[in-house]
Amino acid sequence: MGHKTLSVDNLAVYVQCESSVTKKETLKQMTMDNNAIIQIRDLTKSFPMGKSAFTALSDINLSLGKGEFTGLIGPSGSGKTTLLNIVGSLDTPTSGEAWVLNQSVGRLTAREAAQLRKESLGFIFQSYNLLVVHTVFENVEFPLLLLKIGAAERRKMVMDALEWVGLTDKVRSKPPQLSGGECQRVAIARAMVKRPSLVLADEPTANLDAANSHHILQTMVKLNEELKTTFLFATHDEKVIGYLRRKIYLLDGKVAQDEWVKVDQTEK
Ligand SMILES: Nc1ncnc2c1ncn2[C@@H]1O[C@H](COP(=O)(O)OP(=O)(O)OP(=O)(O)O)[C@@H](O)[C@H]1O
Ligand SMILES: [Mg+2]
Repeated sequence: MGHKTLSVDNLAVYVQCESSVTKKETLKQMTMDNNAIIQIRDLTKSFPMGKSAFTALSDINLSLGKGEFTGLIGPSGSGKTTLLNIVGSLDTPTSGEAWVLNQSVGRLTAREAAQLRKESLGFIFQSYNLLVVHTVFENVEFPLLLLKIGAAERRKMVMDALEWVGLTDKVRSKPPQLSGGECQRVAIARAMVKRPSLVLADEPTANLDAANSHHILQTMVKLNEELKTTFLFATHDEKVIGYLRRKIYLLDGKVAQDEWVKVDQTEK
């Protein structure tokens, strides 16, 4: 197929290449996408299994707005990581669309997907994925090097991010010298340092004790409130679930329930 990204800029190109989609339909889709940071339409994901295929996700229709603090919740194997990977442009849908920041993930080239991740997305994984031979400073600095940000500005941004997570005293330490909670705080600082629009966190507290989990979640709530960063979690940890403002339950690869938590203003 000849088309690449579907965005306002190349709408004409898309309409030319995809004869089954009329210009009117495409414009309607663009309008609906305007206020959403993530928009998922009729998404299916299957993995090849020998001669057949395993359907990990089906009939997914979701929309997330800017500044949400939302979690994908569900039992092991329900499709949380699969969906998070697609939203993170690490994988593509088998059918349907996943729009992330106005770009349709399945239509991006590898280079465009890398660009989207580099510029606009932050990732926090269960296993931290820190570079063990590098210092805390260097780990957090890494995304800024990819963005070719100058040294003085990098330093300020890294120190700001380490301050958010309370680790300015560990700048020169290396990950093996840190506790699990501290490693996860470095991972949060690394995900947040470039102030991404969207942070994707897959079981971010799975290796942490209760005290560290709460500390990290409070840090993320603060960043969500102060920077308006959108957070999307994949989790079955009750501690994480307790902080969510929207809970999307997955069961057997489908959305089983989608509920907003009422915020009691008197609690604040
Ligand atoms: N690359 C793959 N090839 C084949 N099947 C896969 C692949 N990735 C995931 N699956 C299957 O898709 C289903 C959903 O997996 P996924 O990792 O999204 O679940 P999850 O909800 O994140 O579970 P957990 O809570 O255990 O992390 C599982 O049955 C899994 O075996
Ligand atoms: Mg998972």
